[in-house]
Amino acid sequence: MPDKCTLHIGDKKFDLPIRKGTVGPNVIDITELYKNTGYFTFDPGFTSTASCKSDICFIDGDKGILLYRGYPIEQLADKSNFIETAYLLIKGELPNRQQFQEFSGAIKNHTMVHEQIRSFYNGFRRGAHPMAIMLSVVGALSAFYADSANVNDANEREISQRRMIAKVPTLAAMAYKYSIGQPFVYPDNELDYIENFLNMCFSVPAFKYKINQTISHALEKIFILHADHEQNASTSTVRLSASSAVNPFASISSGFSSLWGPLHGGANEAALKMLKTIGNVKNIPEFIKRAKDPKDNFRLMGFGHRVYKSYDPRAKIMQKACHEVLEVSGKKNDDLLKIALELEKIALNDDYFVSKKLYPNIDFYSGITLNAMGFPTEMFAVLFAVARTVGWIAHWGEMYSDPENKLNRPRQLYIGKDKRDFIDISKR
Ligand code: SDX
Repeated sequence: MPDKCTLHIGDKKFDLPIRKGTVGPNVIDITELYKNTGYFTFDPGFTSTASCKSDICFIDGDKGILLYRGYPIEQLADKSNFIETAYLLIKGELPNRQQFQEFSGAIKNHTMVHEQIRSFYNGFRRGAHPMAIMLSVVGALSAFYADSANVNDANEREISQRRMIAKVPTLAAMAYKYSIGQPFVYPDNELDYIENFLNMCFSVPAFKYKINQTISHALEKIFILHADHEQNASTSTVRLSASSAVNPFASISSGFSSLWGPLHGGANEAALKMLKTIGNVKNIPEFIKRAKDPKDNFRLMGFGHRVYKSYDPRAKIMQKACHEVLEVSGKKNDDLLKIALELEKIALNDDYFVSKKLYPNIDFYSGITLNAMGFPTEMFAVLFAVARTVGWIAHWGEMYSDPENKLNRPRQLYIGKDKRDFIDISKR
């Protein structure tokens, strides 16, 4: 394995160091390229760019491998719980019993939000998309918790990480309750993290919500699957905004903004709407045809991935959770699932999708599952973001411990006008 490569520009030669990872692609270090050659690299969409070094999450898109701190996602989804996985992503190791008790206890102590935050919700129309509410109220936390906003203080960073993990589900449940005109439900620290979230979403004063263990275990699995995913668009957004040393709440709020998009975390909402639009398995061929037509901007939502060029390992686990939830919800013959299974079968045998390596991703089955749990479509991206807050905050913490961390400030290939003089309006 060479430790450098040589770039020839005209009659000049430039050596560029090669840096090796534990597994996966190695990188050509171009940090000195512009200084030594006067050239930038060009990579819109960052399809060939490593923005940072990280030891949190590894994806092998060809083999369909996903590791959180080296542990396969299949094992964590099967054997771990969300708070333990959060500890692993943030600290790098699975906690022992004492560490887990301390961490989960600290999270419980931060689940309530300042009472004044309740008034933010009243400023929204009842029909406002809950992601619009979330990116506002998460950012607004910076106006209430200035005592843990100093990103250069490791102790304050740890408090902010715990506050974020603890408070985001409370804010998300409040956004859901507000959208359906029901009163907010306070956190109940007698319950574990997932049960507490379900209770805050589905309990009402007149009727105490009864936790269904199958639903609770399925949501725990779904949250583990969504917790982190390397340098995806929203995690990269959090890293870029945090590189200005802004407070953590503002950075995490930028993650909500990016994740909301239908090409990213909004795909679960878009995928369910797509399945509803298809409406019947006999309509599938028409939509497959549209998805393949370059002139038609219709895409199969929940299909394809920038990194996975094989089956998203999370989608397999998601599909299993989907069957479990539909079974316990009495919806095992759900029409949407029938359409999804038939759509997947047809697409995976169609040369267009096979040749472009387009497989179902995590968003393909999550919508059906969350829908069966009783969440409205607009809440799907919120649930994704509640889980991904853990990954965002883990990468946020890693950034500040990286001596190579600096303000992120990309350059460009300028293709605009060269210098020219101003012309008075009378002469234009
Ligand atoms: C998530 O990055 C992450 O890790 C994200 C995520 C995470 O956990 O954080 O995994 C979560 O965001 C999953 C992805 C959810 N998005 C969707 O399901 C939306 C539908 N998928 C596509 O829009 C698309 O697949 C992307 C955006 C996800 C990835 O697209 P790329 O990598 O930019 O590739 P591309 O758009 O250039 O597509 C390559 C080709 C194109 O055709 P050609 O120009 O080569 O002729 O494949 C086609 C595309 O038209 N294509 C699709 C398609 N996805 C890509 N054609 C039909 N249906 C699709 N879904």
